[in-house]
Amino acid sequence: HLACPMNALPRGGPLRSVQDVWEEFSLSFTPAVREVVEFARHIPGFQNLTQQDQVTLLKAGTFEVLMVRFATLFDVHERSLRFLSGATYSLPELQAMGMGELLSSMFDFSEKLASLNLSQEELGIFTALVLVSADRSGMENASLVEQLQETLIRALRSLILKNTPNDTSRFTKLLLRLPDLRTLNSMHSEKLLSFRVDA
Ligand code: HEM
Repeated sequence: HLACPMNALPRGGPLRSVQDVWEEFSLSFTPAVREVVEFARHIPGFQNLTQQDQVTLLKAGTFEVLMVRFATLFDVHERSLRFLSGATYSLPELQAMGMGELLSSMFDFSEKLASLNLSQEELGIFTALVLVSADRSGMENASLVEQLQETLIRALRSLILKNTPNDTSRFTKLLLRLPDLRTLNSMHSEKLLSFRVDA
């Protein structure tokens, strides 16, 4: 089986080769990854970064963008997780598939994000910020990326202040989700690596 919600289903039919499992999995996550690339192209200023830096940010940040985009797959109240096909599994079922600490960290993240009740516009700028805040190791033009990050932070802050002027902690709470995403990213990368090694 391949127990990632970006898979259509956690398990396919019997007797399938590792290659088949991966092939089917990539059919299911590739459209989502393409959407991230398309989204990036629409961030004002992203295409002014060097080609190499655009690629570096996308490589480092695509998972984090997808995590924000698909946080709603985690149903915090029902304690269940929906896979891309729509099939939904309860927490005990997921644990029986071998999911554990990462799963519960993702539930926590999704709950915190949902509690902020972001509007579509807020979510859009936040998602752009997530991508531009990705791991910067090996940037060609780090200061250009930093400038874009600052522009996005300012835009997000003024939008949030405008939308919820009486909730002064909302902006800070949102920014604190960035390090959460970084942690989820590295925990998830380990799963991905060990899956490849076991396969
Ligand atoms: C686990 C790949 C994106 C949530 C895994 C595993 C792989 C994988 C190979 C290990 C499966 C196993 O051991 O059976 C990928 C790829 C992604 C991606 C290639 C991007 C294209 C995501 C996203 C989320 C997510 C965006 C959340 C919305 C999970 C969860 C697990 C998992 C919850 C199981 C965690 C656990 O064992 O506790 N992923 N994943 N993945 N992934 Fe993903």
